[in-house]
Amino acid sequence: MENQRTLYNDLESILYTKEQLKEAVQQLGERITRDYKGRKPVMVCILKGASLFFSDLIREIDLPLTIDFMVVSSYGASTVSSGEVRLIKDLDRSILGKDVIVVEDIVDTGMTLNYLKKLLISRGASSLRIAALLDKPARRTVPLSVDYTCFEIPDAFVVGYGLDYDEVYRNLPEVGILSPSVYQAKTE
Ligand code: IMP
Ligand code: MG
Repeated sequence: MENQRTLYNDLESILYTKEQLKEAVQQLGERITRDYKGRKPVMVCILKGASLFFSDLIREIDLPLTIDFMVVSSYGASTVSSGEVRLIKDLDRSILGKDVIVVEDIVDTGMTLNYLKKLLISRGASSLRIAALLDKPARRTVPLSVDYTCFEIPDAFVVGYGLDYDEVYRNLPEVGILSPSVYQAKTE
């Protein structure tokens, strides 16, 4: 019944629990803390998908970092990339001469980050690395290496912990595989 539906009903399975996510994010934070010792990186959150990962990750990094936000759009209400990247909100401050770490929820085709990487390097960042919670290497259409990732996942559409389908499921504390019936029903 519609009024008994929960977010969990729409999941095929849970891929990562709260505890697994917490541990992986903690380890990544420690790694970045070691790698950037003596530096003040600018952590750039790609909204909205990376927001939960970002807020947990920066609290695991023991460095005098600063934060900034960007909004890009590539998807809309679809599980397939449109191939176009639109810049909707830009950074507030210059990154000239800064060590930048771009924080993204997931790397799929690689198009979004390929575009962002070129853009931020052209603005004179002195270094640029990518931290993505999830990496789906099987789906890559442009060559892009991810410097830091928590999990490599198979080719499935996942939601939760910031990741959405049509803007829903971001508040799930776990990462799960969305049942294909949810998006097939919409496109048929
Ligand atoms: P790319 O440009 O194809 O690498 O796509 C990256 C963006 O697509 C991510 O920032 C996500 O917003 C979205 N995306 C790709 N795969 C998934 C998924 O499995 N679940 C939810 N969003 C996804
Ligand atoms: Mg998205």
